[in-house]
Amino acid sequence: MPEKDVSALETLLKSKEFLYHTNLDRKTADLVFDGRTLKALYELMGRNSVEYIDFPISSGKESVVFKAFSKGKPVVIKVYKLSTLRFANIWKYIEGDYRFSRERIDRSNIVNIWAKKEFTNLKQLRKYKIPCPRPIAFHKNLLLMSYVGTKYAPAPMIKDVKIDFQAIYEQVVEDLTIMFSKAKLVHADMSEYNLLYHRRKAYFVDVGQAVAKDHPAADYFLERDVRNLVRFFSSKGVKCDLESLLKKIRGNPAPE
Ligand SMILES: Nc1ncnc2c1ncn2[C@@H]1O[C@H](COP(=O)(O)OP(=O)(O)OP(=O)(O)O)[C@@H](O)[C@H]1O
Ligand SMILES: [Mg+2]
Repeated sequence: MPEKDVSALETLLKSKEFLYHTNLDRKTADLVFDGRTLKALYELMGRNSVEYIDFPISSGKESVVFKAFSKGKPVVIKVYKLSTLRFANIWKYIEGDYRFSRERIDRSNIVNIWAKKEFTNLKQLRKYKIPCPRPIAFHKNLLLMSYVGTKYAPAPMIKDVKIDFQAIYEQVVEDLTIMFSKAKLVHADMSEYNLLYHRRKAYFVDVGQAVAKDHPAADYFLERDVRNLVRFFSSKGVKCDLESLLKKIRGNPAPE
């Protein structure tokens, strides 16, 4: 790995402008973009022809998300923070999910499994035409996916837009039903923060924690998801209630 290029990347990611947009201070940036992550980022960019990093879209507790360009097209890189991703918090979404039962998991690699899990979940959603980013690659603690947004700005969260909430509600319910009955997944972190509004549709993001529907806690996660949606959409004047919505989503198992 050419040292020079990694240090150029490091200089960019720890530059004043980048830090300003991510709300990271220098010390936190050192934690997020540690040596291992920088090396992984450099490798991911090389393997997937990512030409340059544009700007950070979001910086939260557990990840930093930024826009980049690959072969002239906008893409998104999600960096899971090695320092703050808590083993205990994410273990419960991995243990019990048969798809990952053969992985050897420990503290040192769980974050990599997490990136792989989000990639796998996105792939599964796309298979059933549920609006979400297209997963492109995962590598170590990084996920590369398509960008949801316009030339001017990333798509906003549905909590921040004024739209026809009735129509969006109906689409979300339709897609959640497909997610459950056909993709056989439960999102497990459903809220107005993880739905982006783009081209008159709600796009599902942040699906790392989504579990297979036969996960022992799937029922509990589904109910929590639906409760969150009912709370949000009711506040926007949409008529909905927990019991009937749960019933609709659980419905009759659809044929394969
Ligand atoms: N593919 C994408 N295209 C455009 N914007 C995206 C994309 N993926 C994520 N984002 C933006 O980044 C934000 C954070 O992403 P995400 O929800 O996946 O991370 P997170 O795990 O919630 O991070 P944290 O909980 O640490 O804030 C999203 O709310 C969304 O605004
Ligand atoms: Mg989120």
